[in-house]
Amino acid sequence: MATLKLGVLGSGKGSNFRAIADAIARGELNADVCIVISDVADAGILSLARERRIPSAHIPPGHFKTKLEPEQEQQLTDMLRSAGVELVVLAGYMRMVKSPLLDAFPHRIINIHPSLLPAFPGLGAWKQAIDARASCSGCTVHYVDGGMDTGEIIAQSTVPVHLDDTPEMLHARIQDAEHKLYPVVIAKLAAQFSR
Ligand code: GRF
Repeated sequence: MATLKLGVLGSGKGSNFRAIADAIARGELNADVCIVISDVADAGILSLARERRIPSAHIPPGHFKTKLEPEQEQQLTDMLRSAGVELVVLAGYMRMVKSPLLDAFPHRIINIHPSLLPAFPGLGAWKQAIDARASCSGCTVHYVDGGMDTGEIIAQSTVPVHLDDTPEMLHARIQDAEHKLYPVVIAKLAAQFSR
């Protein structure tokens, strides 16, 4: 089975990237992270990539808060293409993905979101779950389309919400579930793509 080439995009601490890289190192995921790209210069995900000697880059986002400027989106697309990326993995990437990136990787961009979509899309999903007094929440891996957490759902994992949970406690429980789910889903996609 051919090794699936991943490009990982993130804006934060990179714990999902670490879970993916660790699964690859343990031989549980037949993939290779070719490049890690962030819109945040001092994001933890970039330090983790450097520690692992994985090529990494910072693309300054420009003026918009929730997406890249078209020129930067093109630069991002070019970088992913020239790294030979076959699957784009969003791991805490805080920008909406637009064209040309969406068009360059049709059905080849995935995201992980900290709720059971379609419930609680957008920011602070774990806080939304607590505010709504949900009895369970979890995480969702989905294909990325032009909307906010609206793409086709690939897989979900459920966690309980306890009565005395703080948002931080629930977020930590959801992140544990994310770290298990994301590498497994990518491994399944890698097997599908090489068929
Ligand atoms: C995760 O909770 C993910 O669901 C959301 O952003 C967070 C990223 O965390 N999209 P990390 O940077 O992978 O630690």
